Amino acid sequence: MIVVKTVGELQNVVKEHRQGGARIGFVPTMGALHAGHLSLVDEAARSCDLVVVSIFVNPTQFNNAADLENYPRTLDRDVALLSGTACRLVFAPSVAEMYPEPDTRVFDFGELDKVMEGKHRPGHFNGVAQVVSRLFDMVRPDMAFFGQKDFQQLAIIVQLVKQLQLPVQIVPCPIIREADGLAMSSRNTLLTPEQRKIVPVIAKTLMESCNFAGHRSVKEVKNEVTATVNKSTGLEVEYFDIVDGFSLQSIDNWDKSDYIVGCIAVFAGNVRLIDNIIYKKK
Ligand code: PAJ
Repeated sequence: MIVVKTVGELQNVVKEHRQGGARIGFVPTMGALHAGHLSLVDEAARSCDLVVVSIFVNPTQFNNAADLENYPRTLDRDVALLSGTACRLVFAPSVAEMYPEPDTRVFDFGELDKVMEGKHRPGHFNGVAQVVSRLFDMVRPDMAFFGQKDFQQLAIIVQLVKQLQLPVQIVPCPIIREADGLAMSSRNTLLTPEQRKIVPVIAKTLMESCNFAGHRSVKEVKNEVTATVNKSTGLEVEYFDIVDGFSLQSIDNWDKSDYIVGCIAVFAGNVRLIDNIIYKKK
């Protein structure tokens, strides 16, 4: 496995493979890798000849300076983990390499980024779009793999690819969870042992809510999930919304859509966790 830090080196290696006829699969990450990330690498290896992983904590998508500073950075460990996978090329650039000039582009995702994460983290998806469009331009992948853990991000990336007419296929991958249901996240390492014991209630509540979704009103399910998570010591729901899986807009009736997802953001102290559950997909 090769680890490169510059765009020039990255493009040289990718070019060599592409000229040999390789299909390029790309997995963008911010590092602090876990089995969720590695599942994307495995998925990429199923359909691509060269799997490229980027590791870059992108400053432009953080709307909170402390969150950016505290974000775990574990490059040596990440490289060791990836060397046990099908990944053959790691791109780990510096901020100056990614942004030799400030990126002033402003994207317009219509209503998609006015809700949920977009509403509570202003500018976040603009930063995601900036870095992902740059990375796509550098790697020029045939396919790129994204987790459904970040449900709204996936919708934004699909929209980005449409808007920029990029020749890349976006592949959604399922959420990988710990044995107790907690969605894997780099931020889980920031939890205290006490918080770590409590946070599985988030996934448990979402999963249990599937049993009464459809029988009780959308409003009742929203209130029930929010109240149950808020009852747990140290947890505070920032939002829980039940939305159409394509438009991401709130629905008020289970019959309003064929694709319904519940998305939650919860603070455990100052660690912010997100998760989601698909209630209906026809
Ligand atoms: P990061 O949070 O490192 O996630 C990288 C990819 O891994 C994303 O596609 C994310 O959805 C996926 N992922 C994270 N946890 C997962 C889990 N438990 N199961 C399945 N997939 C999971 O998302 C980002 O980085 C950044 O915003 C990025 C796209 C790299 C742009 O900076």
